[in-house]
Amino acid sequence: MTTNFRPLGPTDIRISPIGLGTWQFSQNSIAAAGNWAVIDQDAVNAIVQTALDSGLTWFDTAEIYGFGRSERALARALLTAGVTPGQVVIATKWWPIPRCAGSIRRTIDKRIKNLAPYPVDLHQAHWPRSLSSIESVMDAMADLAEAGKIRAVGVSNYNAEQMRRAHARLAKRGIPLASNQVKYNLLDRSIEQNGVLEAAAELGITIIAYSPLEMGLLTGKFHADPGLLDSRPWRRRRKLKERLHITLPLIDRMAELAAQYDATITQIGLNWLINAHGPRVVAIPGATKPRHAADAAGAMRFVLSPDELAELDRIARSLTAYQPISN
Ligand SMILES: NC(=O)c1ccc[n+]([C@@H]2O[C@H](COP(=O)([O-])OP(=O)(O)OC[C@H]3O[C@@H](n4cnc5c(N)ncnc54)[C@H](OP(=O)(O)O)[C@@H]3O)[C@@H](O)[C@H]2O)c1
Repeated sequence: MTTNFRPLGPTDIRISPIGLGTWQFSQNSIAAAGNWAVIDQDAVNAIVQTALDSGLTWFDTAEIYGFGRSERALARALLTAGVTPGQVVIATKWWPIPRCAGSIRRTIDKRIKNLAPYPVDLHQAHWPRSLSSIESVMDAMADLAEAGKIRAVGVSNYNAEQMRRAHARLAKRGIPLASNQVKYNLLDRSIEQNGVLEAAAELGITIIAYSPLEMGLLTGKFHADPGLLDSRPWRRRRKLKERLHITLPLIDRMAELAAQYDATITQIGLNWLINAHGPRVVAIPGATKPRHAADAAGAMRFVLSPDELAELDRIARSLTAYQPISN
């Protein structure tokens, strides 16, 4: 597969339009919060190997995912796969609640140790809420960038105004804001309405779309076989079950397009995400099985036509009673 790499905001980092999310590697039920079953290291190794073989060049993890377990599992899997440092891009996140910006400086060595020998390419403030101002948080991130401990700075779940503040503060140090990681998919269009997508375009920032499959709803597998939900952890089971019926018209049309492109419903949803706004948006689907990573990567091998992108947009918007899932 030939991958068209995309810039990560105004940085020199290049990434595939799709990366792998690793909340699923949290390895304990508290951090996975009733959403994901435990995946052991062998399974993580297999998922990461398939992701690499399929052309995914970057991975998103976080301090809070299993309190470091996801970071360590990812590094072990990359080592097992024989990946050398610098060969892939790694994004992680600092957990801000209830902490001060100083903890960004105090916890970076732990992030580096967990991910060793792979460097932290992108460090993100996981949420805007912390005991410090956004300016102090960005000052701490800038310190790490200047010290060479991280390559780029990103934020997550920031609104448009918070993005602008983060961007302006980093600019004082000559450091670009690379990205804002936010929930975005065909069924959750908040960032199109709340100014985040517009601000990202204006500031040259990449949008990293999380929950790009609406936690599995946009794969269509639960519509085809609702009984599958019985084996999923309780919180996610409840969230998905009540949303099956209302989303069926969209899934039906996605299935038709999938047949036309010799693709899957998952690939149609991801394809829309990475093409509806040009290279501005990249996506990080999570995987619990190796075939999920291969399926996700397959979304990079074709491009839906402008008419098809618009039609999916229209059908998704027509589901006005749909309430997006909150993590
Ligand atoms: N910054 C933040 O605040 C934030 C919040 C949430 C997530 N994230 C990031 O975004 C990533 C992805 O989001 P997400 O975990 O919420 O969910 P998602 O990517 O929308 O859905 C992932 C789940 O869907 C199922 N799935 C994936 N690919 C599939 C396929 N091809 N066929 C069938 N089923 C498939 C799997 O679950 P089953 O096998 O169990 O069905 C998988 O765990 C996370 O891993 C994390 O890195 C960030």
